[in-house]
Formats: sequence, structure tokens, C-alpha cells
Amino acid sequence: MDSKAKATLSFSDGRPSVEFPIYGGSVGPDVIDVRSLYAKTGAFTYDPGFMSTASCKSSITYIDGDQGVLQHRGYSIETLIENCDFLEVAYLILRGKLPNAAEKKEFDHTVTIHTMVHEQLARFYSGFRRDAHPMAVLCGVVGGMAAFYHDSLDINDPTHRMISEFRLIAKMPTVVAMTYKYNIGQPFMYPRNDLGYVENFMRMMFGVPCEEYRPNPVLVRALEKILILHMDHEQNASTSTVRLAGSSGANPFACIAAGIASLWGPAHGGANEAVLKMLDEIGDVSNIDRFIAKAKDPHEVQKLMGFGHRVYKNYDPRARLIQGACHDVLAELGLEDNKMFKLAMALEKVALEDEYFVKRKLFPNVDFYSGIVYKALGIPVSMFTALFALARTVGWIAQWNEMIGDADQKIGRPRQLFLGETAAKFVPLAQRR
Ligand code: SDX
Repeated sequence: MDSKAKATLSFSDGRPSVEFPIYGGSVGPDVIDVRSLYAKTGAFTYDPGFMSTASCKSSITYIDGDQGVLQHRGYSIETLIENCDFLEVAYLILRGKLPNAAEKKEFDHTVTIHTMVHEQLARFYSGFRRDAHPMAVLCGVVGGMAAFYHDSLDINDPTHRMISEFRLIAKMPTVVAMTYKYNIGQPFMYPRNDLGYVENFMRMMFGVPCEEYRPNPVLVRALEKILILHMDHEQNASTSTVRLAGSSGANPFACIAAGIASLWGPAHGGANEAVLKMLDEIGDVSNIDRFIAKAKDPHEVQKLMGFGHRVYKNYDPRARLIQGACHDVLAELGLEDNKMFKLAMALEKVALEDEYFVKRKLFPNVDFYSGIVYKALGIPVSMFTALFALARTVGWIAQWNEMIGDADQKIGRPRQLFLGETAAKFVPLAQRR
């Protein structure tokens, strides 16, 4: 990278000024390269939550938070949603270009023939309680996959990375569906090689061995659009977790399990489940004002779930697209007067007219409407974040691969501002009060 300018840091305490190179990307904010700061000044930067920190270079996903823009490899999310299927966008995110017909056929085929899991993996589930949270099960099962694939754990071998990539993308729908089947006490459904990626997933979720199951194609396409919208999103918390885990050389299954664990949090991917619980709690439009007042109260921990975003200070483009998919699903199912959807839209209207939310630029995010669609599709609330993980596995792998291929990459090891004791006097146990 060529420096486009220099930043000078001067000190009021007599320390000599120092200069740092500034780099510009193809779009978006410049970066000030502070890697030499500690060596030159003996000081660290301080940025808890990484509000002003670029942790890496990337060419995968670009977000303009002020404009509400989301692009993957230069294509707008709106273009991709309208023209591509799940594996086509996955190919783009993973390989950096849209596949031609032959490439897509081969990619789809390779994913399809890897959808089955080792029969022993099915036994992992029986160790969990039936009512275990699906994300707890997924953390265990996906991490445990490393125990089955010793033939592809060398992260420095591109062939191993490719094999692991196919195994994870192909098997996530299978293990997610198995998590659901285990929870409801129904038999696991094996994947079928004559079905598409999302159709296969829906059959493994809702089909039973006793009869044929063919999902409604309108619902399949709506779910596919929603999963595409969750595929990658720059350096969010779970992606940063995957990169940090991967920076130590951990195997891909362990890194993806770490990403699943981070995504589970209600401030992140767990928000879609929290939105449904919040809408259930509000119950009726007559309770909206009271709930909004609580969400604005700094003394209350309750936030308006599905609202706000670290990057988007405008409408999350994914929220708008999911709202559209929500409308399609409800219309297809004859649920246009779905109370939850109407309540969500009324809640959004009130919040977007409220000074508190306007001043803080808090808009609906990807999680605000997704749960309503999932619920209408028959997916239980506890499975919502698991579906987010299914889709985000593509982005996690692409970002993990990009990190391994980055010559600048080193093991992630942040420092700290230490505020603790420095000369504590040791008192033997017998003399301690
Ligand atoms: C995802 O990073 C990504 O890209 C994530 C994601 C992805 O695809 O990977 O987009 C997926 O995680 C979406 C976000 C899902 N989370 C939620 O919907 C939970 C509710 N949202 C908040 O927890 C919050 O908005 C965050 C966590 C999403 C963002 O938090 P920030 O950027 O740290 O912002 P903040 O907490 O500093 O908030 C700034 C102000 C604060 O008030 P003041 O201290 O200025 O008075 O806005 C307030 C916050 O209290 N605020 C909210 C709020 N979100 C922020 N107040 C009420 N309700 C909210 N939802």
C-alpha cells in the first residue's frame, strides 16, 4: 500500500512528535498506520469496542453506515438479492467473483455431496438435554467436527482450507436442522442430493421420514433471500472473533465455533430472538409508548431490540429487504393481518419519530424483521440465531481465509491500560484477617 499522506502526533508533555503514514482504501475512511506507535512513543492507542480501529485490510464487504449501503465484492446487496441464489453469493464472497455456469455447477455439486455428516456426529446430540439452547448445541457440535476431519486441519495447506470450507458450508444446514429435530424429539432427516441448498435445509427441518416433503417455492426463495442478507458484514463482533481465533493458527472448525459463540450474544446475532421476545412482551400497540419510554431510560437495561447499529446510522438496507420478504411470506401464507408484523411496523413508526432515536440515529437493523419471517415459516424463536450462524458461516470462512492470506497478519494480541495494584504486600494465610 502506498501512503497518501502523513499524520503527525505531537505531545504536550515534551515527548518528541512522531509521524505515521495514512493509507486510503478503494472507498471508505482512510487509516492511520499506528503499528509503530508503541516502539516510537512507549504509548498504546486506547479504543475499547474498536470504535475507531481498523483491525485488518479486506476486499470482501463494504458498508457505508451513513448512506445505508452494503456491498459484497463491489455488488450492491439489492442486486445480489434480486439476481442470485445462496450458493452464487457464497461463491462471490469466497472467491471474489461471480461464478460462470460451469463454475457454479461444480461449486453447487461439491457442496451438495458434502452435506451428510459423519454418523458418529449424530451421537453428540444425545449428550445434550432436549431443551438445550440450539446455539449451545451448535457451539459443541461444530467445534467437535474438528475431531472427525483430521485430514483437513492444516490451515497452511490451501487444499485443506478448501476442503474444510466445503465441509462447513455444506454441513451447517444439516447440523442446524439436526439441532432442531433433536430439540423436538423427531428423527434426523438425511440431506437429499436432488434438492437445492435452502430447499434441502427446509426439508431437513420440517420433513419427516413418514411422508414426502416439498416446501413451498415462494417460502424457499424468501428464506434464501434472508439467509443471503446474513452472509457477511465486514468486521462485526463474531467475524472479528473468528479472525482472532484463526490468528493463533486454530483449525477452521474451532474458529467457526468461536464465531457461533460470539454471535449468540443478544447485542449481536441473538437480537433476532430478543426481538420476538420483546414483541411478545409489548403484546399490543397500546403498550408501545410505555415500552419505548423504558428503552430510552438510561437506568433500564432494556433496549429496543433490533434497533441501532455500530456502523449503520441510517436504515440498515437488510432490514428494508427483509421487511419486503416478510410481506411476501405473510401474503403467501394468508397472514397479511399478522399481529406481530403490524405491531413491529407500528413500533418502528413510533421509534423513528421519537427524538431519542432520531438524535442517536437508531434505525431498524437486520434483526428487527427477520424473526417475524422465521416465525411465520414455522421456525421456533430459539432457532433464529442458529439460522443467522448458518448463513454467516460463509462470511466467517471468507474472512478467515483472507486473514490467513494476508502478509500483514500476525497473532492478535492487544495490550491494555493497567489500573491495578503494583506493589501489593504479601500476608501469609494464617495472618490474614
Ligand atoms: C447485529 O456489527 C454488525 O455488523 C452486527 C450485525 C451483523 O450483521 O454482523 O449487523 C448484526 O448484531 C445487529 C445488531 C443487533 N443488536 C440489537 O438489535 C441489540 C440492540 N442494539 C444495541 O444493543 C446497539 O444499538 C448495538 C449493540 C447494536 C450498537 O451499539 P453501539 O454502537 O455500541 O452503540 P451504543 O450502545 O454506544 O449506543 C449509542 C447510544 C446509547 O445512548 P447514550 O449513552 O448515547 O445516551 O444509543 C443508545 C445507547 O443507550 N442505544 C439504544 C439502542 N441502541 C443504542 N437505546 C435504545 N435501544 C437501542 N436499541
